Amino acid sequence: MGSDNIESILIENRQFAPNQDFVNRARINADQLAALHQQANDDYTGFWAQQAREALDWHKPFTKILNESKAPHYSWFDDGELNVSYNCIDRHLAKSANKNAIIFEGEQGDTSYITYQELHSRVSTFANALKAKGITSGDRVVIYMPMTPEAVIAMQACARIGAIHSVVFGGFSAESLRDRINDAGAKMLITADGGHRGGKIVELKSAADKALDTSGGCPTIENVIVYQRTAHNIAMQSGRDIWWHDAIKEQSNDCEPTWVNAEHPLFLLYTSGSTGKPKGIQHSSAGYLLGAALTNSWVFDLNDNDIFWCTADVGWITGHTYVAYGPLAVGATIVIYEGAPTVPDAGRFWKMVERHKITVFYTAPTAIRALMKQGDEFPNAYDLSSIRLLGTVGEPINPEAWMWYHTVIGKERCPIVDTWWQTETGCNMITPIPGAMFTKPGSCTKALPGIMADVVDEDGNSITEANKGGYLVITKPFPSMLRTIWGDDERYVDTYYPKFDGRFYLAGDSARKDEDGYFWIMGRIDDVLNVSGHRLGTMEVESALVAHELVAEAAVVGKPHEIKGESIFAYVVLKGERPAGGVDDELTKTLRDWVGEQIGAIAKPDEIRYADNLPKTRSGKIMRRLLRTIAKGEEITSDTSTLENEAILDQLQGKI
Ligand code: WT7
Repeated sequence: MGSDNIESILIENRQFAPNQDFVNRARINADQLAALHQQANDDYTGFWAQQAREALDWHKPFTKILNESKAPHYSWFDDGELNVSYNCIDRHLAKSANKNAIIFEGEQGDTSYITYQELHSRVSTFANALKAKGITSGDRVVIYMPMTPEAVIAMQACARIGAIHSVVFGGFSAESLRDRINDAGAKMLITADGGHRGGKIVELKSAADKALDTSGGCPTIENVIVYQRTAHNIAMQSGRDIWWHDAIKEQSNDCEPTWVNAEHPLFLLYTSGSTGKPKGIQHSSAGYLLGAALTNSWVFDLNDNDIFWCTADVGWITGHTYVAYGPLAVGATIVIYEGAPTVPDAGRFWKMVERHKITVFYTAPTAIRALMKQGDEFPNAYDLSSIRLLGTVGEPINPEAWMWYHTVIGKERCPIVDTWWQTETGCNMITPIPGAMFTKPGSCTKALPGIMADVVDEDGNSITEANKGGYLVITKPFPSMLRTIWGDDERYVDTYYPKFDGRFYLAGDSARKDEDGYFWIMGRIDDVLNVSGHRLGTMEVESALVAHELVAEAAVVGKPHEIKGESIFAYVVLKGERPAGGVDDELTKTLRDWVGEQIGAIAKPDEIRYADNLPKTRSGKIMRRLLRTIAKGEEITSDTSTLENEAILDQLQGKI
């Protein structure tokens, strides 16, 4: 680990206790929290078994708890049977049939309400449509949809029949979609004609066609179901493509859930790593749902009359756990918004809070920073008094943004839960329990009951000295963790258990603990960028650049960015001449568009600098730390004498 990961520069001493009103009605108070921790420490598996019995409805109760015989491939509750969709919908019908499950708002302001009863009916009907197209338990279904209730319905319908979905974010390109479909071996694609964002149509179906019909296509896909959202002109391939509204015609709204084993894969979700292609993170049914249900109750404190808005798209894990599954598992009402946060202006989120009387609001630091920059007049124009709890996720939140969230949005009344977790962990791991803990701006506080997190040194020893950085690890298996990387057990072991004799799950983040035992996340230890709260492998962007006919070599690093957290800085060596001065705006535009096409707009380099060579160590490894320093425009203080050609430093710095 580089020393820049270990030094801690940020010392923040402010502390905030939850207000008494919040504490009085919170699901978990300080005593209850202490009792949960005690129980988890005293009888770890007994604790989880009790939670699993209380939080979930089982078709067949489990008798086994944790199976470690194939470590680090762990399984939980693995002789039990349940159905995730049943747990999210059916079991609430007796009490909450007419309660809203989903409040949907489109970018143009069109709004619809879906009760639990209607959700049950629509999920069941669509599940029957999937069955009619030959989808059965274990089949993979890729979902490439706009952020509308149908995305959640499609996910729940898959869960209902045991099909394994893999949602691909609608902002990803045709190439990314094709790779994911092929890696998953998906039999069906569910998409839409398009989506609405920023006043424009997102061309989902034409991207899907490109994925399926070019560069070898997707041989395993048999059918494409197309939801009509925009009703603009698109191509439909007869025999393969079918409209959603036609597929559900004449389907019954009664669909008996398919009872699956606790370990049956619920979904795959692709995420970036530092090397190679994206990894299909595989989650289980019971363990995942348990984490999702518990954290929606413990961390988001969801009660019967809460209206919860998590702004994440279902294309990310946050949109799985805090939109499509977790809040429904605890019978809450969720808000879904399709569109940009700045349409018609930067007050959109706050207008929606007022309109729908949102009580719990969860978003990313990048969004907070962007909206903060627009000025307080936007939030101040709306009544935000319905909000009682705020949350953030995706990257460390800088104290300045935390304080703005706290004062301008929360009016100093609302606790903030800064939730640390990952696609792999399935649910919140290190985060405050809002009615039971004080918070500090920038710290995700402590691990939840039953989550054994620690900071360790190179040898795996716990670091006891306060504020000394090290590797963030999870020292015991827990129910909601990933089960493997789809089709690649070896990569799973190499990625998450490469050190410490396979004893600990390696999160890939560096962290420190302060005097109170509060965790502070310091950054990634691998070559992973965090752009707008989403992981991108530097390697993926580099491969995309090198795939362009003019590019010989590329190195990509992150550069701190005011709003996005990190921006992408690329150093490129061309096959031909280096442009004069290392800058070529036209070529840069071409390469940016190219990367956008290869991966998606989120991966476009913000800056590109051209050089005759890249700085490498004797063993041929690119000196990324040096490139990061240069990207930031900082003085080079490290030893560069090992460089073959020191003159390229001037080129890399844009001096010549
Ligand atoms: C990585 C996981 C979990 C959903 C969103 C991103 C960073 C996430 C925090 C936080 C500091 C955070 C970490 C982590 N991260 N939340 N509250 N404080 N860092 O999911 O794409 O799987 O990325 O995001 O680096 O490892 P992901």
